[in-house]
Amino acid sequence: FDEEIKMVTNIVRQLNLGRNAGSVTVLVNSQMQNNIDLVDDNSVQITTPMYAIAYNTTSSQCASCRTAWFDNSQTKISDRPLLMELINKTLMEFDAPSESLAGIPSKNFIWFDFGSLRPAPTDRKSKRRYEDFKWRLRYEHRDVNVFIATLNKEDFKDLLSRDENWIQMGMGSDSADMESVDLMNKITQTPQVFQYGDCRRQKSSNEIYEGYLTPGYKQYWVMYPRHFIKSYSIDLRFKAEKTRLRVCVDRFPIPENNEKHCNEAQEDGGEVKFTITDPCRGKSFESCPGIHVSIGLSPQAIKAVSAGSVCKGAAIATLFARSGARVVIADVNPNSMRDVAFECARVSPGALKPLQVVVDLRRDVDMERLIQTTITEFGKLDILVNNVGLCYSSHIDDDDYIEKQRATFELNVQPMIQLTQLSVDHLSRTKGSIINISSISGVKPAMVIMFTKCMAVELGGKGIRVNSVCPGYTRTEGANNATGLTGEALNGYYNEVAKRQYPIGRVGEPMDQANAVAYLASSNANFMTGTILNVDGGYLANK
Ligand SMILES: NC(=O)c1ccc[n+]([C@@H]2O[C@H](COP(=O)([O-])OP(=O)(O)OC[C@H]3O[C@@H](n4cnc5c(N)ncnc54)[C@H](O)[C@@H]3O)[C@@H](O)[C@H]2O)c1
Repeated sequence: FDEEIKMVTNIVRQLNLGRNAGSVTVLVNSQMQNNIDLVDDNSVQITTPMYAIAYNTTSSQCASCRTAWFDNSQTKISDRPLLMELINKTLMEFDAPSESLAGIPSKNFIWFDFGSLRPAPTDRKSKRRYEDFKWRLRYEHRDVNVFIATLNKEDFKDLLSRDENWIQMGMGSDSADMESVDLMNKITQTPQVFQYGDCRRQKSSNEIYEGYLTPGYKQYWVMYPRHFIKSYSIDLRFKAEKTRLRVCVDRFPIPENNEKHCNEAQEDGGEVKFTITDPCRGKSFESCPGIHVSIGLSPQAIKAVSAGSVCKGAAIATLFARSGARVVIADVNPNSMRDVAFECARVSPGALKPLQVVVDLRRDVDMERLIQTTITEFGKLDILVNNVGLCYSSHIDDDDYIEKQRATFELNVQPMIQLTQLSVDHLSRTKGSIINISSISGVKPAMVIMFTKCMAVELGGKGIRVNSVCPGYTRTEGANNATGLTGEALNGYYNEVAKRQYPIGRVGEPMDQANAVAYLASSNANFMTGTILNVDGGYLANK
């Protein structure tokens, strides 16, 4: 039971049941849940069994997600035909795919069993019933991936359509972390379904689907034979607007497992094309396999993106959005803000659009407007991240030393102080927290650190935690610009710096910092205030 609790806690906390994960249904042969409300709140230790996954509230707001839970906690299912019938019945509850959509989310069905299932039936009547439901599961619900989490694979041999769909349980709570990662990966790899009209529609060859990719993430898609069974040839074309795609196509799930089935665009914006001739030759509707596609950015493109338009604020906002938070982005540059806002809405489980406020944080009125708009719009404030700042080094004998100092003080220190003051009343109501972005060396960072400690002491009584993240060298737009380099020269420069100064062998990425911010903001850090967290790949340890 410990193993079960640990696994569900991990999944409920970490799995973003957003568009990447699609729908998840859990049919569980498990113990009673204590209190379903506990699942909503990360600050409380979750002590619920597996079927709590179905109650993960992040998915209930998600337009493309549907979660169902079949209540069989009272009656342990041990009879196979009955199990099959219940699985089929539960799957019927999924909404029918809509013709107007280009894609429908992935669907996962998870069955947990701790050794209670009886062997397959042998008497004629129940055997027929069982086989009938099994057939339906495999062919009528082809777009549903059924995972079985059990002690013993042999017990389920006849139910598993793929060996990989088995999750080994019963190894003890120490291994629950690995099991939950395994299950989460499987859930996110379940493909969404291409939804183009059937092959009789003339215009289907011109249809275009616009999708969006986050660096480091892949999209999984599948087209089932009902959309191409009569085709003689299928052309699939992929093109990214500003970057370079890597696409893999296969007749089996997770196509990137086979390098030979992957193609990469030759240049940014270049096309990747696959032609599949006679896709169902000699096969029937039931036996013709789907066409599986995984779409990602080429490793080169990922570098280009993170070196270009992804800065720390963007990574922090996206990470919060991904966890279901309502996010406010404030920046002087509306264009870069728009891209970040778009990305936040894309990854948000509820497709929540962030509030965008154009501000010059050197101006008092703008800072007041920022906090006021947030409260008017959302009614409360939980977390304030003071991240704005300039990223350049200066030396006392520089001609423009004084101007540079003034400019960095105006942007790295003053807004932090003022925004903190403007937020105190709101944060004391929510028992919220402040995270100040500092640095591992320099005069202004020292101010940020001391301010953080003073505020931790002053605001602790109001229930507000104040912490600071000190990034090592991080590949952001500001940091890139400060080097004056681009492309390979910039990569070479960062590699050189990393070799000399960073024991971990690389400089930081914006997401490294965002993860630390998210941790300090979370209830996992409830007892942390006045903490100065170095996120520096070992830079300081090396000094
Ligand atoms: N990148 C690093 O290596 C590094 C290391 C240590 C600390 N830091 C600190 O991290 C923070 C963020 O740095 P970054 O690297 O993400 O910077 P960045 O330059 O990539 O991003 C800064 C953002 O602030 C915005 N901005 C600039 N002036 C503004 C103004 N007047 N009002 C509102 N917004 C404004 C910019 O448009 C930009 O989006 C800074 O405080 C910096 O000192 C960065």
